[in-house]
Parts: sequence; C-alpha cells; structure tokens
Amino acid sequence: MNLRADQPIGIFDSGVGGLTVAHAIKDILPQEKIIYFGDTFHLPYGDKSSDSVRYYSRKISDFLLEKSCKTVLIACNTASASAFKEVTEHVGDRAIVLNVIDPVVTHLWSGGRSGRVGVIGTKGTINSGTYKDKITRGAPATDVISKATPLLVPMIEEGFIEDEISSSIIKAYLEDKRFAGIHTMILGCTHYPIIHNQIEKFFNHEVDIIDSGHLVAANLKKILEERNLLNPLNGSDKHEFYVSDYTEFFDRISRMFFEEEVHLEKLDFWT
Ligand code: DGL
Repeated sequence: MNLRADQPIGIFDSGVGGLTVAHAIKDILPQEKIIYFGDTFHLPYGDKSSDSVRYYSRKISDFLLEKSCKTVLIACNTASASAFKEVTEHVGDRAIVLNVIDPVVTHLWSGGRSGRVGVIGTKGTINSGTYKDKITRGAPATDVISKATPLLVPMIEEGFIEDEISSSIIKAYLEDKRFAGIHTMILGCTHYPIIHNQIEKFFNHEVDIIDSGHLVAANLKKILEERNLLNPLNGSDKHEFYVSDYTEFFDRISRMFFEEEVHLEKLDFWT
C-alpha cells in the first residue's frame, strides 16, 4: 500500500507513558499530526500476560489504521517486548510499525562502551529478557543488570512525583547492590522519563540515564525522511488523544505536554 506524507503519526501506550514519546516527536517533527491512544482501561500492561498485551495491541493498531495513520508506534516497552512481531505481521504494509526498544539499544551500541548497564521496566518487559538479549547481541561483553520495578507505573499514574512517596519507592528499588558500578541506567518504560530527574538525583548524577523519547523521535524522523513521508504541511494543530477510560491524570499530563492543543476523547473501546 502506498503511504502518504499527510497521514498522521499513530502512537499508543497503556496510559500517559507514551506521551513522553509523543512530546519528543512534537519537538522534532512539529509539522506532523499525532493520533494518540492511551489504553487506560487496561493499565498497567506490565502485569498482564503477553497474550493479553498482544491482543490489545492488535486491536489498537486496527483503530490507528482506521484513523489512516502512516505509523503504528508502540510507545510502550511492555508491548514492544511482547507484541512488536505480531503487530508488524498484522499491520503488514498498511503502516510503518515501530517499537521503543530498538532505538535505545542502537544508541547504547553506538557509545561503544561495555561494562555494567542497568535496565528497569515493568515485569512484562524485564521478564521477557528483550533488553538483555538485544543489547548483548551487538555488545556481548556488556553486563546487563535488569530489575522489574512494577510500583513505578501506578505511582506515576496516581500522580506521586517529586515527593516523599516517590522518593521512598525509587530508593527501595534502586539501592539494589547489583546496580553498583553501572555507568548507564536505561529507563525501560515510557512512563519513567516523568521521574527522570529523581532517578538521576538518586545516582548523584554519576550515571547516564537513557530514556527513549528523543531517540525514538529521531529514529522516526530518519525513517520518514528515507521514505519521503515527512509531512510538508502543518497538520500539528489537530492532534487527537483518545483514552479507553477517563483519568484526571491523563488529562493533566497531556495538557502539560501539549498545552492548549489537546483534544481528549474517552472511547467505549472495550465495552
Ligand atoms: N509505559 C509502558 C511501558 O513502557 C507501560 C507500563 C504499564 O502499563 O505497565 O512499559
């Protein structure tokens, strides 16, 4: 199928996390129109079975295709880890399917450092072993220390940021002795950039913190350029945001990232 430059960018996540990616896209591709789906009805994905996450991802891809998107960007590490292959096959040539893990791994390889690297993410992402497998494929000498940090997504979605509760939870997870000596910590969940500063502070600014937003956006730009699919006109004044359940926090965070541009709609998607 022939894709067109004026089609929107389709993005999905389980909640607000993918907004960190959408925001980075808005920064470097200001002409593009974004259609965002936050599956807040099923949040968090991190505790769901791979089969469930694959099913949700397929259905949401269909929605983004109905909205004529030229990309289906899986802005969720959990779904990128378990559903990328299936969504790619399902979508076929109807859109470009992208995940948030590959650009991070490629970036890490390009630094040429081995040593110890930490990865934190949901249970689904960490238990899948995807980061470890992909990183060591291109950098076999890297010691990847992975840890599931399942309380962080509900904590963020409940608005506990930069306060005592979030500091205690972050500390409880990150003071794990296995992280001693890491030079880089990968935020393997698109929600975590919202607490980037707190994590950086925990490591006394001595560890490189990688979050996927700008890396994913730069990779998207490169792919659209190569395929001659960059929108030459300004479609960005009409971004559309959909959620499968209304949450006040989604409303607040989406307005924080996109200011007055937010058109948020709750869909009865699963009922
Ligand atoms: N933001 C997501 C991720 O990157 C989803 C987290 C969740 O819903 O558990 O994994």
